[in-house]
Amino acid sequence: MSTPVWDPEQYLRFADERTRPLRDLLARVPAVPHEPAATILDIGCGPGNSTAVLRRRWPEARITGIDNSAEMLATARTEGEPTADYRLADARDYDPATAAPDLIVSNATLQWVDGHLALLPRWADALRTGGVLAFQVPGNFGSPSHTLLAELRRDPRWRDAVGDNATRAGVHRPAEYLATLADAGCAVDVWETTYSTLLTGADPVLEWVKGTALRPVLTRLTDPVDRAAFLAEYGALLREAYPAGPHGTVFPFRRIFAVAVRR
Ligand SMILES: C[S@@+](CC[C@H](N)C(=O)[O-])C[C@H]1O[C@@H](n2cnc3c(N)ncnc32)[C@H](O)[C@@H]1O
Repeated sequence: MSTPVWDPEQYLRFADERTRPLRDLLARVPAVPHEPAATILDIGCGPGNSTAVLRRRWPEARITGIDNSAEMLATARTEGEPTADYRLADARDYDPATAAPDLIVSNATLQWVDGHLALLPRWADALRTGGVLAFQVPGNFGSPSHTLLAELRRDPRWRDAVGDNATRAGVHRPAEYLATLADAGCAVDVWETTYSTLLTGADPVLEWVKGTALRPVLTRLTDPVDRAAFLAEYGALLREAYPAGPHGTVFPFRRIFAVAVRR
């Protein structure tokens, strides 16, 4: 899977809606060892929006954000949460044990990380007793925003330019996360929620996915004419699938959550 180029500004256009699941995730995280001066890892910290939420809950913690996008880390350092340390690293290679974390958080990231189920026992092992691993991933890969995009990418007119070789890793069923973390010796809480997110403005679903699911396509579609044509076609499909109503556009968004406490 090739690495997409991220656009922190586009991603943060929906900062509140994107950060809400993290707040809901943290509501289920119990006190961690060494609270409030815990050691915390934010894996896939992006532009630092999740890191800032962690800082508000743990004001004295030593927080390290890890991400493999230099663009995202630049925004995290300057605007996101300047009090944290940041490290450019791939989640698959990074060894959390070196940081002796009390809490590992990964918000809206593991869906981009191939083979992430196998990483979870390693991350759980890095925790001391009472330490917590908490993550949240989107569970909306079967929704029109994604199926329409996948169909368009398979279309012979687009296949060569933006075909499948840059697709995301995807996620697992909630029960698989639960079993994997329980096998790793954790007390586990897994749940899912569908947010009926109300988006406003012109083509709001297209603007949303431009910050996430469309990144691999936009990274490859460098010709501005092709890019405009692709966005026009996909945008029209999205308007049909998510019609604007009197209050805005309802964008149903399923999310999967897991909180694992090391026994
Ligand atoms: C959708 S953003 C999530 C940002 C933030 N955590 C939040 O809560 O909104 C996903 C982030 O994961 C990062 N990412 C994707 N694959 C990664 C990998 N293999 N290793 C480290 N970071 C990765 C991306 O660069 C991006 O910043």
